[in-house]
Amino acid sequence: MNSFIYDIPTKVYFGEGQLGNLGAELKRFGRRVLLTYGGGSIKRIGLYDKVMEELRSADLEVYELSGIEPNPRIDSVREGVRMCKEHSIDVLLAVGGGSTIDATKFMAAGACVDHDAWEFFGANAKPIERALPIVTILTLSATGSEMDSGGVISNIETGDKLGRMAPAMQPKVSFLDPTLTYSVSRYQTACGAADIMSHIIEVYFNMNKDLYMLDCVMEGLMKSVVRFAPVAVREPENYEARANLMWCSSWAINGFINGGKRKAWSCHPMEHELSAKYDITHGLGLAILTPRWMRYCLDETNVERYVSFGVNVFGIDKDMAPMAIAEEAIVRMERWLFEELGLQRTFTEVGIKREDFEHMAAKACRYGDIRGFKTLTPNDVVRIFEMCE
Ligand code: NZQ
Ligand code: ZN
Repeated sequence: MNSFIYDIPTKVYFGEGQLGNLGAELKRFGRRVLLTYGGGSIKRIGLYDKVMEELRSADLEVYELSGIEPNPRIDSVREGVRMCKEHSIDVLLAVGGGSTIDATKFMAAGACVDHDAWEFFGANAKPIERALPIVTILTLSATGSEMDSGGVISNIETGDKLGRMAPAMQPKVSFLDPTLTYSVSRYQTACGAADIMSHIIEVYFNMNKDLYMLDCVMEGLMKSVVRFAPVAVREPENYEARANLMWCSSWAINGFINGGKRKAWSCHPMEHELSAKYDITHGLGLAILTPRWMRYCLDETNVERYVSFGVNVFGIDKDMAPMAIAEEAIVRMERWLFEELGLQRTFTEVGIKREDFEHMAAKACRYGDIRGFKTLTPNDVVRIFEMCE
């Protein structure tokens, strides 16, 4: 069994009516706050006014950076770094989904160095040793950025979308109020659920029989997402459904379920090339890829993992033949994604073209073959892309 370090130092305020603690939490880090948010949803749902009221009554000095785009761009990060330096910011407050939180993480790190923030990415990435403290208010259940140390940034000039993790960027405090996600569209709710599910699948399918307990936790998380995502899509203001999705999003990727697993993820590097090239929603790309990747990887040597998944997550009859259970599990997954959640099922439907497959596959394997559940070469990635057409 692999040894590991468990350290998830994000303080979480979960549930309604907790924003009254915002001012006191921010003040622990200083007086000058950079408030970051996206394209305006926080104003439409009345959250912006509430946040500003809290900040004002705590006598904090607030600077604002809005317009952080989905699949956030390095230019937004650069602007945030500039503002942090110009105003000697003490703490950053990200209000929004994963894009806003991710961009804010690299602003916080960029504020502590002299080089350009894009140098945090790529093969010769500069270290991230320090970052200004980050507090988040989550408005969309999906990425888990509210409770992890990673982020993903796009660079339009180079055509890259690259991820990076560093403990210094872990949010210090996150406010998770499920009612703030009532306004999330059906489409974004479905994409978010597909993302949460993928974060768990990426770990679950990297076979590790050492910690049975973690397998059970992952199956419980996946069962909850499978059960509550369609409810949230049908009934956007169902608190139980929104709350389950929100807490699953954090625990899917905050490091707990990993145990000592060190294998690479598979669908994420492939998907990041889709959203880099076509600017599609991350969760949609994962929804299209995941069942095809599962089908591509399935063989006699690994069928057991699919059996556990099918039986324990989708309730398939355990007395069926293993291969039949595995195939049924993939079909159930597709039905959940494309029928119950209503997501598009093919590259063709979202405009992803065959002419880009080879280039995207080469970039997905930029650091070598993807050594995950099953090792994938660029050629394997192209074949999985073809299955998505
Ligand atoms: O920009 P605004 O106006 O806020 O609108 C957003 C955006 O258009 C909207 N939205 C958010 N909360 C809302 C809302 N609309 C109505 N009501 C609300 N309460 O939803 C749209 C999508 O938001 P975005 O933040 O882009 O979505 P998500 O949370 O899915 O983040 C996606 C980004 O995170 C990265 C993805 O690659 C992508 O760039 N990821 C980050 C990870 C991490 N930090 O660990 C891991 C993930 O695997 C992922 O790669
Ligand atoms: Zn993801």
